[in-house]
Amino acid sequence: MSSRKRVLLGVLGSGRGSNFAAILSSIVSGRLSASIAVVISDREDAGILGLAREAQIQTVVLRQGRYRTRLDPDIEEELAQYLRRFQVDLVVLAGFLRVLKGPLLTAYPRRILNIHPSLLPAFKGKEAWKQALEAGVVETGCTVHWVEPEVDSGPILGQERVPICPGDTPESLHARIQEAEHRLYPDVIQRVIDRKLWQRIHS
Ligand code: GRF
Repeated sequence: MSSRKRVLLGVLGSGRGSNFAAILSSIVSGRLSASIAVVISDREDAGILGLAREAQIQTVVLRQGRYRTRLDPDIEEELAQYLRRFQVDLVVLAGFLRVLKGPLLTAYPRRILNIHPSLLPAFKGKEAWKQALEAGVVETGCTVHWVEPEVDSGPILGQERVPICPGDTPESLHARIQEAEHRLYPDVIQRVIDRKLWQRIHS
């Protein structure tokens, strides 16, 4: 990567923010050569916002719209504007519970990453760890992929396998998958940066 400037990440999340914390910790320890420009959430009570503020990272809370699972088009456009304002190079979805439709995908083509708690293409959608348990498979895992219009379907950048153990509950399995996520996500982001798999638009 160019020595001019570190790659700026914009992290989007709706939940407790453990993946954000893992990414931040990788940056602080020098394993990930990026900076987090902003953390954006659709929920003002999301844990990820508190973690970001503790780390003195800028935060934004999106306006509430008419829908629960996606953003109103004007709010998604505002989200794209925030990311541009913070000069974000790569968008990192870390438990962001809204499906992205047009405006953001157009503004950040092939520059939005997501982590999903299964070995895609298996178990797309919600609570993928429960789907894996119910299916009776012996292993599952997590996947980092580019975001495309079809949910959980973009090109895969990295995966880590996680065994399913006898006696696993949805909670124990999800916790083990999250440990894998916290290793995988920072590693894949670094690989994306090293290999310039994205196009810099803010020079
Ligand atoms: C992760 O399990 C991820 O796979 C899914 O949302 C969860 C986010 O958890 N997309 P956290 O907020 O990073 O702890």
